[in-house]
This record gives sequence, C-alpha cells and structure tokens, in this order.
Amino acid sequence: MYFIYLGGKDNYPEEFFNIFHALRGDRVYVEPFLGFGAVAKCMSNPRILSDVNKSLVELIRALRDDIDLPIEVTKDEYLRLAKTSPSAVKGWVGFVFSSQSRFFNGFFPPKSSVVENYLLRYQREMKALLGAELLSTSYKKLEIPNNSLVYCDPPYVGTVEYKQTPKFDFFNFWHEWVPDQASKNLVLVSEFFAPMGFYAIWRMMKKSLKGLRYDNLFVHESQYEQVCGILRNVGIQPCADPLFCTQR
Ligand SMILES: C[S@@+](CC[C@H](N)C(=O)[O-])C[C@H]1O[C@@H](n2cnc3c(N)ncnc32)[C@H](O)[C@@H]1O
Repeated sequence: MYFIYLGGKDNYPEEFFNIFHALRGDRVYVEPFLGFGAVAKCMSNPRILSDVNKSLVELIRALRDDIDLPIEVTKDEYLRLAKTSPSAVKGWVGFVFSSQSRFFNGFFPPKSSVVENYLLRYQREMKALLGAELLSTSYKKLEIPNNSLVYCDPPYVGTVEYKQTPKFDFFNFWHEWVPDQASKNLVLVSEFFAPMGFYAIWRMMKKSLKGLRYDNLFVHESQYEQVCGILRNVGIQPCADPLFCTQR
C-alpha cells in the first residue's frame, strides 16, 4: 500500500524512465522539484535533489535514515503540527494523515496498520537516495553545476496548488529560468502544455481533473536536435508531433 504524491511520477511507464538514463551520460543529475522522488530514486549518484517544502525534504531524510515517525496522531496534534516550523514529523503527519495525501488538506487518518505499512515501504524505498545531496530551496536559488541533467517536475498550470508553498512563478520559470538553464545544462520539463519555444520529446495520455490530457516531457528548442539525436542512438523514438502541446 502507498499513497500517491500529488503530481508524482511513480506509476509512469519504463520508457519514461529510460529517457533519463539515455540522456544522463556523465552528467550530475539535478531535480529541483523533488516531491517524493519517483525519478530521483531510479538515478545513481551524483544527484542534487531539492524541494521548496522543507518538511518534505526532512521527511525523506528521516525515512532514508530510519528515524522514528508516529503511527498514530490525534486531531489536536495534527492541527498543532500544521502551525509548527518545518520538520520530518510535520512532513509525515501532513501527508500521511491528510485527505488525499495532500499536505495538511484536512485530518483523514488511515488505520494504524496502513500507516505502519507506509512507513516500512517508504523506509525501504528511500534507501535509493543514499548518497544524494538533499536540499530545501526554491528552484531559483538552487546552485546547479554546469553540464548537469536537470529534470523539472514543477507545479502544472491550472492544477491543484501545493499547500504551504509559495505561489509558483510560471512566467519566470518558463520564460527566464529554463532558457537560462538550458544554455548550461540539459533540461527536461514535465507539463501538460508549454509555451512557444519548447518541444515535446515524449508524451502519454493521462487522466486529470479536466479530463484526459497529454502529459509531456519538454525540452527547450535550443536542445531539441541534440536530445533527439541521443535518444535515437539508443533506439528511443522521440514523439512524432513535438509541437502538439505547445500552445501558450
Ligand atoms: C509535481 S511535484 C513533483 C513530484 C515528483 N516528481 C514525484 O514524482 O514525486 C512538484 C513539487 O514542486 C515543489 N515546489 C513547488 N514550488 C516550488 C519552488 N518554487 N521551488 C522548488 N520546489 C517547488 C512542490 O513542493 C512539489 O513537491
């Protein structure tokens, strides 16, 4: 049993993960929007992983290092923790004991046997992050070594917002930060839609609150030919209609 992290990529097909392995080469792997780390867990070191939600990062560290976390929590304790400063316990309670596993989205405690299963499962899974550099900062402040492979899985436009995180600056991200990073690194971005100047290299159909949509992996136009070349060399065909979801 496990919970689905909002926007998590856990159940994505093998071909999605193969793209990261194909593009990795000897690059450092960087993930500025870590979430529960579905892709990061499949990559080897060196890895720089970060998320703006400090309680989430503390939680991942605690799970990885087998630090004790509560199996039962009262509603009063839940409400109290929602107002405390970031910590692993706040992260654990905020996700696991909340409705839809969304951070402090209302008290909805699973049975203790279920929580125990979560704990064992995540302690086991987060061992895959041993040796990775774990940070908590906004993507804008993350220091990225040149020539890294940078995978961005940011909040998607028009979808449910992440609680207790600053409002996401979509304009800065797509029009300033990604083009700048793409001049120094190989950058992949997950989204339903991208602005002009981006090309999809992979996509799959996905259910969303607004019906069926394509979930894409985009690259900046300056990297499209290079990325397609690397993928074709290892037998991965980039998607046939790269501009289909580029419409803003
Ligand atoms: C779509 S989720 C990532 C899911 C992850 N790929 C997974 O498979 O679990 C987006 C993440 O971006 C984080 N986030 C939101 N705004 C951010 C910002 N300005 N800088 C860094 N991280 C941010 C959220 O806390 C959330 O964990």
